Amino acid sequence: MSAASFKNRFPLRWTTTTTLFFVLLVAFSIFSSSHAQSTSNHNVEDGKGEGLVALVLNEDPMVVVEYEVLTPENTADLTDEAVVAAGGVLDVTLSYEGEGYVALGTSPDLKMAGSEVVIGMFPGIPEKYSISGYDTSGIVRMPDQQQTLLEASVSQEDGMTVMRFRKLLSEEGELELTVGGGIQNNFIWAVGHGNSLGYHAVRSTFSAALEASGEASGEASGPAPEVVVGSTVVPYKGSWAFHGTMATIAWGLFAPLAIASSLCRTIIPNKGGGALWLKIHIFLNVMCVVMTMVVFFTALSTTGKSGSGHFNGTHQKVGLSIVVLSIFQVLGGFFRPHPPHPPSSSAADHDHEKAAKTGDEETVDAEKLEEVDVDQQMEEEAAAAAAAAEAAAASKKSSARVAFEIGHRVMAGVLLGLALYNIDEGLRLYALRYSNVEDYRMVYWIMVGCLFGMIAVTSIYSNFVI
Ligand code: HEM
Ligand code: HEM
Repeated sequence: MSAASFKNRFPLRWTTTTTLFFVLLVAFSIFSSSHAQSTSNHNVEDGKGEGLVALVLNEDPMVVVEYEVLTPENTADLTDEAVVAAGGVLDVTLSYEGEGYVALGTSPDLKMAGSEVVIGMFPGIPEKYSISGYDTSGIVRMPDQQQTLLEASVSQEDGMTVMRFRKLLSEEGELELTVGGGIQNNFIWAVGHGNSLGYHAVRSTFSAALEASGEASGEASGPAPEVVVGSTVVPYKGSWAFHGTMATIAWGLFAPLAIASSLCRTIIPNKGGGALWLKIHIFLNVMCVVMTMVVFFTALSTTGKSGSGHFNGTHQKVGLSIVVLSIFQVLGGFFRPHPPHPPSSSAADHDHEKAAKTGDEETVDAEKLEEVDVDQQMEEEAAAAAAAAEAAAASKKSSARVAFEIGHRVMAGVLLGLALYNIDEGLRLYALRYSNVEDYRMVYWIMVGCLFGMIAVTSIYSNFVI
């Protein structure tokens, strides 16, 4: 491709601007990452020196756990064979100032994935689940023979949910609770927005050394066992806000405006002989693609840092599909079947006769995601109007070319549809996760509606009225 041709089609300042923009986005992405959860140490306010521990896990809404290790030696009524074999039980009461599911369990690395938890969903009874991932499908009820909880109940009254259960200290094939020796046991807990499983209203962790009831009281003068309570702050808010803002600008603004510039080309004045609408069109599409990549890599790195698996959930899967389809769309444009030779034009047939120019065109075409036919645009831009008339009369387009043109446009429509849906879904996830912020979906749809309305009116006006 010649320098002049390149400059003509893709001016240097755009490349520079785009690159600079990309670098700034990546830099901002790195700096906007929130820090991992912090923890704090608590000295336990225990129950009357008798081994009952009461711990405030969260203040608003209030979540309190009370637990006690009961062994056959110190508790007269623990005569059950299984309890004796397990060496005792952990007696737990979890109270939540709200109406929703309540859950508590053990997790060696304090993560949701890899944990074994007891979940109480009113009006059912608390049951044991193992968790392997970060969505509902990763939370699986253990088989009946493992449902060994004793005195398990969940009640809901006056806006309070209270779960009680006794869990055997040691069970085959399950995570064990270690009592004595000051060894820390790692726990996770969560409370829900409602009585069915879904993203939590509050969740966190704590680590505690367990002492059998009665034994701790024997050392009444010694220090109370230390409990390390994890943060309830959901991390990476800045990164997700950045991810969402970029995605919304790219697909909610730039992509529709790129289409608009093509649909309304007749009312966009030309500048210096070049087609201004095309420049706008290409610029917005390049920005959209670059931003989509930034959106994607921000999501990948943030999900990676948070330790949850990749592409769990609908938003994540649709997001991945958008990125993959965008790449196919770009490749499709790059390797598109070319239109047939016009019989006698060297000016019009940029695809076949001007090798340098062809490369240039393909670069331009490869960047775009909309339904506009770049081959035709280039013909216009090259001011080959006379030759184009001749070319049009030349020979018929191959069926591969026709298929490409249709496929390219359909794919563009599908991509835009998926992206608009995914922005909605992303905003929902964000509002759910950082429950202190508003759900911006209504504002988003009003703005997108107004934008599409304006584009439709302008397009009709420019194509049919003037
Ligand atoms: C369908 C139900 C659930 C969904 C969709 C869900 C989803 C998630 C997601 C997306 C995260 C990462 C974001 C964050 O830090 O908050 C997370 C973290 C966490 N979840 Fe869940 N969760 C569910 C149920 C539970 C249950 C039942 C528990 C506890 C017993 C729990 C405990 C935790 C904890 C402690 C964390 C922070 C530690 C970590 O990142 O693994 N979750 N959950
Ligand atoms: C076209 C637009 C969008 C695309 C292509 C996209 C893509 C993605 C992808 C691929 C992931 C998963 C990353 C992984 O699993 O490794 C993801 C996660 C996420 N996105 Fe988006 N996204 C878009 C829009 C948005 C918007 C507007 C928001 C609003 C703030 C948003 C918020 C989130 C959140 C909170 C997650 C983490 C979900 C979780 O792990 O529970 N996204 N996105």
